[in-house]
Amino acid sequence: MFLPARRAKASAWLALAAALAGAPGAVGCGKKPVTFEPAEIERHSMLAGVSPGFLLGAATSAYQIEGGNQNDWTDWEAGHYPDGQPHVSDGSTAARAADSWNRWRQDVVALEDLGANVYRLGVEWSRLEPAEGAWDAVAAARYREMLMALLAARPHPIRPMLNLYHFTLPRWVAARGGWEWSGAPQAFAAFAARAADAFGDLVDLWCTLNEPNVYVVKGYLAGQWPPGVRDPARGARVLARLLDAHGLAAAALRAHDRVDSDGDGAATRIGLAHNVRVFDPEGGPVDALVARSADDFYNRVIPEAVATGHVHISLPTVVTIDEAAPGLRGSFDWLGINYYTRDIIRSRIARALTGRGPPYEVVADAAGSRARSDMGWEIYPEGLYRLLLTFARYGWPIIVTESGLADRAGTVRPGYIRSHIYAIDRARAEGVPVVGYLHWSLIDNFEWSRGYTGRFGLYTIDFAGDPELTRRPTPAVKTFQELAAVLGLLPPPPAP
Ligand code: FCB
Repeated sequence: MFLPARRAKASAWLALAAALAGAPGAVGCGKKPVTFEPAEIERHSMLAGVSPGFLLGAATSAYQIEGGNQNDWTDWEAGHYPDGQPHVSDGSTAARAADSWNRWRQDVVALEDLGANVYRLGVEWSRLEPAEGAWDAVAAARYREMLMALLAARPHPIRPMLNLYHFTLPRWVAARGGWEWSGAPQAFAAFAARAADAFGDLVDLWCTLNEPNVYVVKGYLAGQWPPGVRDPARGARVLARLLDAHGLAAAALRAHDRVDSDGDGAATRIGLAHNVRVFDPEGGPVDALVARSADDFYNRVIPEAVATGHVHISLPTVVTIDEAAPGLRGSFDWLGINYYTRDIIRSRIARALTGRGPPYEVVADAAGSRARSDMGWEIYPEGLYRLLLTFARYGWPIIVTESGLADRAGTVRPGYIRSHIYAIDRARAEGVPVVGYLHWSLIDNFEWSRGYTGRFGLYTIDFAGDPELTRRPTPAVKTFQELAAVLGLLPPPPAP
């Protein structure tokens, strides 16, 4: 999510700076200049003309909502930086989170109220396979209950999109080196096979991995997430490993899930959720070079590898990875895009070369006029439009698997949804095959190193004051229901 890191080890940033400076120019990040007019968004008729099969829903991840999990993140939460600051800024943990492990029926009710027809949820690897080769049949049975409740939802079924890896690793994998362990992709594929055996009759939509690039940036460049490493060379190798893991898992899912549960002619529809971000230069050619290089590393490596069957990651002077990966080709039935914001790049090459910090800083837009979320992320719907146009060239159907903002008051989210749907609709009008939109998130949850300070839920939760953890609708629920009505998933709202 954030490329520049606090606490960056000088040598690592030196290497990264050299890499960025030497990297070839990327094709650009959807450079089409465009500014959306608020009045135009207001007038726009949302989702007009989408096919009835359009996927409309929300997303969560197992660790962020379930509570009661024990994995590498649990251990990370207990730790501190050398200066004494806790790894999680508000000192909180995911021990209880939204307690969805016990309160999941409330989540299903929330989805029904929204009119959603899809829900991206995770299964927690460490819960299902607490030791290598073990399988918790009781936990699997509970996940099956959840999946069956989604399929039996009113007024229409809610299709589960099942996510297999979302930043957290079982302790037994972490102890062997996590994704640096050469056996990790096979171990993950074995887990995927078992998940397919256990849930395949209820699930067709599979999401193998969430945001491998974010994992690498946060865990191996910034050192802000487990395993807390600041080493771009190791990060690049982990990215390649994750791609390998995706390819093996996709093959395992195809081999083990033979049941077409929704009757659309396919037993599996597989993709991964790729975090994408606009990198715009603030000014001159050096900013542009650094921005293009960041775009190349962050946005391009993954889809290029799947499109070509070849992993190419180049960090000159640090590491070059050039590996044939034929198993990746054909592993996507769809591309998932998680979009939040853009970075405006002011290069700091000199600083980086002298080991005094990252190769760029992120600055405010020139006019300083753009609204920001509670977490300081620029609200930039034009970026979603630009990136959709860019990724359309691969030809995969695109599902927006996450988009949302931290908005504790809940007042900005309705407009945020409208403007991002407008971006999707403009891209669709230009032929981009966007087939779904999933809001992040269904409910407030544990926002990684920000703890409970970042509130992303369509439904908010008073974690400190409400022992029942009631899911309370924010104003954006109504906005979402308007979308559902367009798709015929809910009756039309009463005329004003
Ligand atoms: C995404 C993550 C998700 C959540 C949102 C805000 O990058 O996939 O878990 O943290 O950001």
